[in-house]
Amino acid sequence: MTKLVKKIALLTSGGDAPGMNAAIRSATLTAHDYEVIGYKHGFNGLLDQDCIVLNDADVRHIIHQGGTILKSARCPAFSEVQSSKIAAENLSKNQIDALIVIGGDGSFRGACHLAQYWSGQIIGIPGTIDNDVDGTDHTIGFYTAMETALDATDKIRDTADAFERIFIVEVMGRHSGFLATSIGIACGAEQIICPELHAPEHFDLQTITQHVESTRARRGKSSYIIVMSENSYPDGAVALAHLLSEQIGIDCRACVLGHIQRGGSPVASDRILATKLGAAAVEAIASGKSKLMIGESQGAIACIPLDQASTHQKTVDTTLLKLQQHVFDHQG
Ligand code: F6P
Repeated sequence: MTKLVKKIALLTSGGDAPGMNAAIRSATLTAHDYEVIGYKHGFNGLLDQDCIVLNDADVRHIIHQGGTILKSARCPAFSEVQSSKIAAENLSKNQIDALIVIGGDGSFRGACHLAQYWSGQIIGIPGTIDNDVDGTDHTIGFYTAMETALDATDKIRDTADAFERIFIVEVMGRHSGFLATSIGIACGAEQIICPELHAPEHFDLQTITQHVESTRARRGKSSYIIVMSENSYPDGAVALAHLLSEQIGIDCRACVLGHIQRGGSPVASDRILATKLGAAAVEAIASGKSKLMIGESQGAIACIPLDQASTHQKTVDTTLLKLQQHVFDHQG
């Protein structure tokens, strides 16, 4: 039987990010000339044929919701040839013409792997709170995670001030310091520890303690906040707080923000970015494009090859890092 309408499939993969629902909504509404299918639980849905039809009504009133209505998951099995072949066969059986993958660089590696075995169009939309995807100024979810973590860190400052205590606030970002740097600058943290400033294998406790001590010698007793990316210190913020307490003999507490940064209603900037990218992804498909990631650069839609987005890690703006160092060196 011949197919009358082209079919676009969507999936969300990897760590969920606030704004993924806004991207699903925008892509579904823009694809009014297509049939839209949503695969559940990331790439697992392609392997298990776990999918639903998405109509306009299914995406109504989800723009403000965190998480993802399609659910998300990591799928380590997807790097195996056999899995990509099964996924390719299932997509062909379902007569899917194009697939939109909303996720981070790991998800794009999965999409590139699939592209070796499936001839349909594949488009990526960057969605991760880490903001570490090359080819886009921001990823969907970053703005919201930043606001959530900043709000929490401001609250920590109040109690830190009251007790004149040192706090280590651990934020997400396994391999990248976008969250740590941005939150550190925005909350006026005394120190930032992130992979771009301190490679985890060269963790320099002495420099960190010296700064705490010299600041305290200058200012007297006062609150002092260190914003640290997860994985920067091998045993985590709690262990580092213990160590600092023992070494300097001053009350030091740790607050690990964890997955709270991934939840919540997306802020306006994430909703708008997701809406732009969802629509642009469908337009790219309509114009025959494939193996691209659709991002935003300096306010304009930007397309880069998906394999570039999956292999080149975006690095934290060096101006931000310099600013951080400058401010800290001159902090009274
Ligand atoms: O999605 C990115 C991220 O939130 C990282 O910042 C964090 O390291 C990781 O996901 C946590 O993953 P999981 O939820 O699988 O533990």
